Amino acid sequence: PLVSMKEMLEKAKAESYAVGQFNLNNLEFTQAILQAAQEEKSPVICGVSEGAARYMGGFNFVVKMVEALMEEYEVTVPVAIHLDHGSSFEKCMQAMKAGFTSVMIDGSHYPLEENIALTKKVVEAAHAVGVSVEAELGRIGGQEDDLIVDDAEAAYAIPEECEKLINETGVDCFAPALGSVHGPYKGEPNLGFDRMEQISKLTGVPLVLHGGTGIPTKDVKKAIELGHAKINVNTESQISSSKAVRQVLEEKPDLYDPRKYLGPAREAIKETVKAKMREFGSSNKA
Ligand code: G3H
Ligand code: ZN
Repeated sequence: PLVSMKEMLEKAKAESYAVGQFNLNNLEFTQAILQAAQEEKSPVICGVSEGAARYMGGFNFVVKMVEALMEEYEVTVPVAIHLDHGSSFEKCMQAMKAGFTSVMIDGSHYPLEENIALTKKVVEAAHAVGVSVEAELGRIGGQEDDLIVDDAEAAYAIPEECEKLINETGVDCFAPALGSVHGPYKGEPNLGFDRMEQISKLTGVPLVLHGGTGIPTKDVKKAIELGHAKINVNTESQISSSKAVRQVLEEKPDLYDPRKYLGPAREAIKETVKAKMREFGSSNKA
């Protein structure tokens, strides 16, 4: 069933695993992610950025597509449709109106007080209709769609500020930027585990790790131990699927039926998502 993230993340935190947020880019991504979740018996969060929603046909269409596939596949595991990096109160409202069960309001580029005020406003509206909310502090580096943060701008979240934001807004989960990056890492990721531990001790909410592509398994496990209950993955599925497309087209330069290259792309996404679910420990937790 379609649900908010609240219960699935509280359960994950209590039982020390993380639920994956896998971003939707098109029909094949949506099919692959829902099939993977059902086959792994794993809860799942379908992440939808504003750019990806625009590409796919809008918030309403995305909700209808997910619902239709869930019905077709007889999905029984908990599924959330979550606005990824919501840029404004208005965008969050539009997504909720379309049927999103969860939203992220990304006020991380605003000064603390403004971020808190904006997040609080979204939480009030969302909680009134049972929609969960994620907020962010600090700045996650790299690029995802319209969101570009260069190295100089990337900043680690400050534990006391995280505590303040969480207490004053009532968010359901929280993403502190701690050195993770959107897109491939240049070298090894350097996650701020000391701060992560402090934030975890100061606050009780499930934490969210953005930039889940390319983080070594040992760091993933440590982040989960330190309170992360949601890990976002997009680039890794994009890389595995485009690799599959490239391979098919290189082997058969005369091929033109999209099903012949998008089918293998879909399989690649499914394998990537399943592997992440096992790594995060969410398999068989639905
Ligand atoms: O919000 C989405 C994610 O943080 C995805 O990060 O593309 O590096 O896996 P990624
Ligand atoms: Zn992100």
